[in-house]
Amino acid sequence: MTTARIRKISAGIAGQPTTDGAGVNLTRFIGSPELSDLDPFLLLDEFRSSDSSDYQAGFPDHPHRGFETVTYLKAGRFRHRDSQGNQGLLTPGGVQWMTAGRGIIHSEMPETTEGLVWGYQLWINLPAEHKFTAPRYQDIPPEQVPEVTGHGVKVRLITGDYEGQSGPAKTWISTLYFDIELEPGAVFTHSVPPNLSGFVHLYKGSLTAGPETESQEAQASQLLVLGEGDTVRLQGGPEGAGCLLVAGERLDEPIARAGPFVLNTREQLEQAFRDYQAGVLDS
Ligand code: CO
Repeated sequence: MTTARIRKISAGIAGQPTTDGAGVNLTRFIGSPELSDLDPFLLLDEFRSSDSSDYQAGFPDHPHRGFETVTYLKAGRFRHRDSQGNQGLLTPGGVQWMTAGRGIIHSEMPETTEGLVWGYQLWINLPAEHKFTAPRYQDIPPEQVPEVTGHGVKVRLITGDYEGQSGPAKTWISTLYFDIELEPGAVFTHSVPPNLSGFVHLYKGSLTAGPETESQEAQASQLLVLGEGDTVRLQGGPEGAGCLLVAGERLDEPIARAGPFVLNTREQLEQAFRDYQAGVLDS
């Protein structure tokens, strides 16, 4: 039997307030000057506000090519529509996992007119060999997300395996996306192999992360980047904690990105803009 190597925290990111879409105020944790990417993750935005002027404008029609967008909603309602004819209503606890592949045009608009809207958008890069795959849309309602509870730990599995259960989202690379709630002092440990980059985004309470002897304390709302090792260990603070644990296989491929397009070369990037202007991005 080998000893687990608990992953330390290599960085703590505060997040940067920014505006995107048609004027949605959000906090960017990945894809900012502080953390431009965390291979294979290209962007992580949190939108969380009870003021409708922060979210009302939504994200009208816009293109994507070369990666996946994953939207996880905690509160409110969002309507998605895309140029493939797909549409879905995201409700609290639901997920939309969209593979843009060779190209898609979509909109993401709030159906909530007042009260809290809270959710996350994560961009996951596609391996070069799959960048031009046909678009794929996975609409995962909240009741399809398994919830595993025990020992003061509640884990919702969007993708990845835990305690004999599996999250429903299909992925192109080895990926784990858990929403975890910890009671005060409760401990969560899980294997996350060294070839996966990962982060913990703390959205509620406080926790300590890392080996017991060298653990790091964190308060909401921070993004903790996982360091080297093969196992994640989290322990709820005095009021407990709520966090996202996300990890994905590193691609180690060149990134050429601009706005809504993420390719491998400058030429592919210029082609994406030309295809979009010519109206053939999604054909
Ligand atoms: Co989008």
